[in-house]
Amino acid sequence: MACNPYSRVVHSLLSPMAGPALYRKWRPKSFEEVLGQEHVTQTLKNALASGRTVHAYLFSGPRGTGKTTTARILAKGVNCLGPEDKRPDNSCSICRSIDEGRSLDLIEIDAASHRGIDEVRELRDKIVFAPSEARYKVYIIDEVHMLTDAASNALLKTLEEPPRHD
Ligand SMILES: Nc1ncnc2c1ncn2[C@@H]1O[C@H](COP(=O)(O)OP(=O)(O)O)[C@@H](O)[C@H]1O
Ligand SMILES: [Mg+2]
Ligand SMILES: [Zn+2]
Repeated sequence: MACNPYSRVVHSLLSPMAGPALYRKWRPKSFEEVLGQEHVTQTLKNALASGRTVHAYLFSGPRGTGKTTTARILAKGVNCLGPEDKRPDNSCSICRSIDEGRSLDLIEIDAASHRGIDEVRELRDKIVFAPSEARYKVYIIDEVHMLTDAASNALLKTLEEPPRHD
């Protein structure tokens, strides 16, 4: 029972002393823990194992199906220092700093509350700087559909031609 994540979710919801918010308490840390999305997680695992990841991914689907979770696991996958077939290993210094939310190279933007052109310009200005410790800088743009048209267009340009850092 303990290995079924949903049983933990149900348990936390039922507990009156739930403590920290559920979303902080438990989030899958590996592709194997993301349930019901094997067509996505297997594809990403294959890409990582063969070193054939691309520079942008778009996850779409209903709320709460694991899009943000999968993006964070992928961010660890591309930057993990462990063996290729085990990425992410969740034990190297990079995986740990991402899991603990202290990596400077994983930037999460909530596009629902940062919808405008100024936010995208800021992203564009900062994206030219090399990563601080990881191999790649990863931007997770949550709720990207909420960007204004002008912001979307500005983002598209950066997406099509991300800067090289090497
Ligand atoms: N496919 C899944 N397998 C396991 N847990 C999931 C899955 N999708 C969502 N969850 C749970 O729901 C929470 C929210 O998921 P999240 O990745 O933020 O969803 P989304 O970004 O698609 O709205 C996660 O922390 C996790 O506990
Ligand atoms: Mg999300
Ligand atoms: Zn790692």
